[in-house]
Formats: sequence, C-alpha cells, structure tokens
Amino acid sequence: MGKKNKEKVILFCDGKKCCKYNSEIKECFKDLVQEAGLTDIVTVQKMKCQGFCKSAPIICIHKNECVGNVSTQDAKKLFEKHIA
Ligand code: FES
Repeated sequence: MGKKNKEKVILFCDGKKCCKYNSEIKECFKDLVQEAGLTDIVTVQKMKCQGFCKSAPIICIHKNECVGNVSTQDAKKLFEKHIA
C-alpha cells in the first residue's frame, strides 16, 4: 500500500554495439519486473552509448551501478541484488 513512485530504473545501452547483444537481456529484465509485480516501481529504459563498447552489452542500475558483458544469468542476479 502507500504511494508507489517509479523509483527504480534499469538502463540498457542502446548504442550500436550493445544493441546487437542486449535484446534478450532487455526482455529478460522486463519479464523479471513483470513476474515480480514491480511494473509500477521499476522502469526499463534505454540510454546512449556509454563508451564501454568493448564490454557490450552494458546495463546500468540506478545510473550508478554499471555492468558489462551482461548475460541473461547476470540479469537475474542483478535483478535479485538491486531490484527484487
Ligand atoms: S554501444 Fe553500449 S557502450 Fe557503446
């Protein structure tokens, strides 16, 4: 109950390099958010190239926790650690 602000954000890099790899991860995050019933709280957004293309795909949680070479398994771990 109480107010629900969209207070958590998952950012995925939509730059040229990352977007080749991140569509599966993006879907994975969206599914996780939905399964956890957190669509009111969590936003999944894209961001521009972060300059870490060598580590594509890049995902950032809350704009300050950025991770590279993210796999769908990493996505689950990140979600459990930072969001769920
Ligand atoms: S394209 Fe994602 S960091 Fe450059």
